[in-house]
Order: sequence, then C-alpha cells, then structure tokens
Amino acid sequence: MKLDKLNVKDVPVQGKKVLVRVDFNVPLDEGGRVIDDTKIRASLPTLDYLLAKGARVILVSHLGRPKGKVVDKLRMDPVARRLAQLLGRKVEKCDSITGPEVKDALHNLSPGAVLMLENVRFDPREEKNDPVLAAELAGLADLFVNDAFGTAHRAHASTSGITAYLPAVAGLLMEKEMRYLNKSRENPLFPLVVILGGKKVADKIGVIRHFLPCDCTILLGGAMANTFLKAAGFSMGNSLCEEDKLEVARRILDEASRGKAKVLLPVDVFIVEELRRDSPHQVKGVDEIPAGWSAVDIGPRTLQNFKKAIAAARMILWNGPLGAYEFPPFHWGTEMVARAVAAANAESIIGGGDIVAALEKLDLSGQVTHISTGGGAVLDFWEGKELPGLAVLQNRVKSQAPV
Ligand code: 3PG
Repeated sequence: MKLDKLNVKDVPVQGKKVLVRVDFNVPLDEGGRVIDDTKIRASLPTLDYLLAKGARVILVSHLGRPKGKVVDKLRMDPVARRLAQLLGRKVEKCDSITGPEVKDALHNLSPGAVLMLENVRFDPREEKNDPVLAAELAGLADLFVNDAFGTAHRAHASTSGITAYLPAVAGLLMEKEMRYLNKSRENPLFPLVVILGGKKVADKIGVIRHFLPCDCTILLGGAMANTFLKAAGFSMGNSLCEEDKLEVARRILDEASRGKAKVLLPVDVFIVEELRRDSPHQVKGVDEIPAGWSAVDIGPRTLQNFKKAIAAARMILWNGPLGAYEFPPFHWGTEMVARAVAAANAESIIGGGDIVAALEKLDLSGQVTHISTGGGAVLDFWEGKELPGLAVLQNRVKSQAPV
C-alpha cells in the first residue's frame, strides 16, 4: 500500500473550513466525564496547527457503538468540554451532524474557531458508508483532514465516502501513526519480537499468520494463549478457551513448527478457582492445571522466557494484555513485560488500551518508541490489510513540496 500521503501541512488551510475526522471514542464514567483523554490529546497537534493558521475547524467523531440511534449518554458534549480545556479555547457543540442547525453554526464560525458535530454514529447512514451522508458532510467544508487513525480500518461515510467529494489529506497524528507502523510492517528490525495477548484468537490470527514466515519470535499470552495451549494438548481446566478456534490454533502451531518464526507459549501460569480482585491463586506449570481452575496470567518461568527474547530484540510490537489485567494481582505479567519492553534496547511499538494503561501507571510511556491510538486498526495493519480510511487520502506526488 502506498503510504506517502499528503498531510495538513502540504495544503493551504488559512481561512478555510476544514472538516477533521478525529477518533474521540474515549471512555466515559457513569457521570459522563472523560476518564482517559489520550485520544483527544493525540489530535491536538493537528488542531493547534489548523487553528494557528486561521482555519475554521469542524470536528466529527464517533463515540461508542450507538448503532444508528440517538443515545443520550453517547453525545459528544463531555468530549467537547474536555477538548475546550485542552485547547484553552471555546469549542462550540452542535446537536446535529448535518442539516440547518449545523449550517447556522457554521455561518457564525470565525477563523480560529472550533465546532464539534454530534456523534456521527447516531446517523444510521454513517456505518453504511452512505454517499448522501458523505456528500452532506463534505458540503460543510473546503477540505477534509483525517486524523482518526483508530478508525482508519472502518470504511464509513466520515472516514471513506467523504473523500469522493472533498480534497482529503492526513492529519499530523495519522501521519505519525503511518510513519511508525509502516516501518514495523515493511522494514522491521531483527531480531523482531511480536507480543500478542488479549482474549480472542480470532482478532490475532491474521497478525500471527503475517509474521509466521518472518525470522521473528511471537510471544503469546492472555486468554488467547489458553486456546493455543489446549490445542497443543494441555488440559486447561476451566480456563477461558475458544472451543471453536481450537482447530485454527492447531493449524497455526503446525504452520509455526514448519515456518521461520518461533512461537513461545506460556510454560507456567497463575491459576484461580474464581476470577475476582485478589482471589487466592497458585502458580502451576501448564501441564498441571487441576480441573475447576483457570489460568489468568503468565507465570514467572514464562516471564523469564519472554524477557530473554525481549532483551535480544531490536524491534518489539505488542498488542493485548497477557493476563486478566483488570483483576489485580493478575496484571502482574503485563506489567512485568511492560518493564522489560521499556528497558529493551529496541524500537517498541505498542497498540491497545490495557498495555498503555500499564505503561502509564509505571511511568514508562516515555520509554517506548510509539504508542498507537489504534487497537483494531493496528491489528489490521500488521495483518497486511489495507486500511480504507488511509487508502483514500491523497498520495504525495514526488515533486510536491509543503506549502
Ligand atoms: C477504537 O476505539 O478502537 C476505535 O474508535 C474504533 O471503534 P470501533 O471498533 O467501534 O469502530
């Protein structure tokens, strides 16, 4: 895929109405306050740039999965409030996505001002990539900027369809994500270590297959590793396993035994009878899990094996927690591996929420090379898929110099 895309610095923006697709899909608490504003902060360079240049900025994002209906607790208001604090300027919030109310708000929008539209997934046409919604959105602006890397794997009206009607360039976050991720997929450094965790095998199969022919080490943890262990013949007791994925896990292990990549599964695990915070636990080899017990984190011998591979790596890619991170102390494996990754003399690229939370808690975020704002988008990218929201942005022509 050609990834040399024009970005917002390559085109004139002064005085223009610029529609920016952001991924402000952030977690909210019961009171509707933003719990983690990482994704909002990540788009500030693009927004600051546009505002400093005197553009009129219109923001569009989704929040959650309202499935085409208006869901009050998924309105963009708390996000607009948080953004206003971070930008240090007023953010107008409109309760519509397109239509007369938006047109009125736009009429009063002066250069250097920000307007945030309502959650675009309230409109059932968004996820259908409906051309009429795409044209309505495009009609609001002179230029489209996509800064929503986390949503680049979705071909929706506000990420893909809109580019049929407006010049479309990347935002600065999108540009940065492309730069790091492209290197990790197209020109990885060796020894390469790919760490995959999380619950679902299905989410990671494509990534494992992509890296199997490479001379790399793939470390598997989290509940998905249980499925691989069961496929390898271990009795996993009550551990979370995806029975319908055993066959594909078996095939992957078989392919791995013949491929170049080395796949490392846990050799020991923390086990519990019932998963909750601080539940009584034991450490057992994966060949000695009793009936009725469940594996919930990697064990110390596994950690040593993983650390050895990580210490020798020149590049590390990681997605998914290695244990039941939300139930301490079963965050242990993820945190220990996070420490090892941060200490490694390697380029490290991290995607996905729980690992980012672990790095932040340990104050280690500054010691990894790149923390992606994408979850599913990163996995699709590493799998070798084209990201529709990225593919439709304008390619840079060789002689094109920034404005
Ligand atoms: C994410 O949080 O991964 C992105 O915002 C995409 O959200 P989605 O999986 O609901 O499309």
